[in-house]
Amino acid sequence: MYERAAGHDAADLTPSHPYPNRLILEPSIKCNIRCRNETCDIANDAHIELRRENFMRWDLFCRLMDEVGPHLEELYFYNYGEPFLHPRALDMLAYAKKMNPRIHITTSTNGILLARSGKAERNVAEGLVDFICCTIGGVDQETYGRYHKGGSFEKALLGMRRVTEEKRRSEQSGPTVHWRYLLFNWNDSDEHIAQALRLRDEIGVDEFRFMLTASPMEGRSLFRAPGTPGFETMKPWLALQEGHSPDLFAEAGLWGAETCSLNGPFSWTGRRASLLALPRMRRVHVRMACGGTPTGPVPAVRMRLPWGDFPGQVGRERWHDNFIDIPEMFSQPKVPIDLEVATVFTPMRHGVVGDNRDLGVMVSLEDVVPAPNPYRMTAVSPARVAGCSRGA
Ligand SMILES: C[S@@+](CC[C@H](N)C(=O)[O-])C[C@H]1O[C@@H](n2cnc3c(N)ncnc32)[C@H](O)[C@@H]1O
Ligand code: SF4
Repeated sequence: MYERAAGHDAADLTPSHPYPNRLILEPSIKCNIRCRNETCDIANDAHIELRRENFMRWDLFCRLMDEVGPHLEELYFYNYGEPFLHPRALDMLAYAKKMNPRIHITTSTNGILLARSGKAERNVAEGLVDFICCTIGGVDQETYGRYHKGGSFEKALLGMRRVTEEKRRSEQSGPTVHWRYLLFNWNDSDEHIAQALRLRDEIGVDEFRFMLTASPMEGRSLFRAPGTPGFETMKPWLALQEGHSPDLFAEAGLWGAETCSLNGPFSWTGRRASLLALPRMRRVHVRMACGGTPTGPVPAVRMRLPWGDFPGQVGRERWHDNFIDIPEMFSQPKVPIDLEVATVFTPMRHGVVGDNRDLGVMVSLEDVVPAPNPYRMTAVSPARVAGCSRGA
C-alpha cells in the first residue's frame, strides 16, 4: 500500500501501525440501477477519472487480503457502486473470511442481486458477511422507483427476504439484516410508514431505520424534518443522513445565499424551489439568471403562484426581471411561488472538480426569500440533530 504514495519513497513513510485494522473496500463502482443522488450520477467523475476499472481485480484483492487480512478487525465491503455486481463478490468475501475468520464484515446493497438463486443462501450458509444494510426506500414500485431508477421493488424486497428466510431456515444467527428505508417527500405519509412497518415485521429484519436524506435536495421530506410533529412521532425509527440538518435554504430547494458586487444577494436553485415573494406596488418581482458556462439553452422555468402558472424568463449572465401583477382577490402580504426548472446542470460534469450540485437557475434574493418548512412547529438547531446518522 505504501509503495504507491505519490512523490514518496516507501522508506519516507513511517505509519503509526504497520497495517490498518479497518478497511473500506470498493469491489465495484458499477451499479445495476441509477438512484437519483448526485454521488451516484453516472457521469460525475468524467473529469477526475479516479477509477479506471469498474471492478476490483481478483488478483489485487487477493494480494491485499494476503497482506492486510490477518490484521483486520473491520472490513467495509462497499463504497460507491453495488458490491454484489462484482462477478466474484461472494468469492471475495469467502477469501477474506478464510484469511481471517475474525474480521467483522459490513456491506450495503440495493438487495436486487440477492434475489438471484443461491446468492443469499451462500451468504448465510458460509457466514460471509456479519452486517448487511439493504437500501430500499419505498413500499411499492411507485414510491420505490422514483428514487431507485431502474430498480424493481419486488426483487429488492425478495433479496432482503431471502436472507432473513435462509437465516431462519438454517437457524443461523447472522448476518444482522438492517433495512434502510430512505425517506423522501413521496414516501413519508402515515400510510407509507404503516405499510413499511408491516413489511418490516413480516420479513423479520433485525434492524430498521427510516433515513432522512438530503439527496436529492428536492426529495427532502419536510413533513418528517426535525422540529415537526411528523419527526417526533417517528423518532424511535429515524436515522439522519450524515450532515443532515434543518437548513432553511436546502428545505426550500436552494443551495444557499451567495452575494457578489454585480448581482447582489442571490441563490442557485435545484430542480425545484419554494419561495416567498415580498411584493411591491401589488406586483411580484422575480429576477432570474443562468451562468455563462456551460453554453446551452437557457433553462425553461415554470412559476406556480396561488392564482395560476406562469412561464419564467431567465437571463444569460444577467438578470431577467419577471413582474407578475397580483389579482385583487389575493390579500396575503407574501406570495408563495413554486419554481420548477426543466433542465439542471452539474458543474462536476463540466470540469469543476468537487461541485456535484444540480444547479437550476440563479434567483435574486432582493424581493424573494426561501419559503419556510410549513410543517415546522419549533426551531431546531443543527447541533440537536448532529450525530444521529446511525439512529435517533
Ligand atoms: C452509494 S451506496 C453503495 C452501496 C449500495 N449500492 C447501496 O445502495 O446500499 C453507499 C451508501 O449510500 C447510502 N445511500 C444511498 N442513497 C442515499 C441517500 N439518498 N441518502 C443517504 N444515504 C444514501 C446507501 O444506504 C449505502 O449505505
Ligand atoms: S443502489 Fe447504491 S450504488 Fe446503486 S445507484 Fe443506488 S445508491 Fe448508488
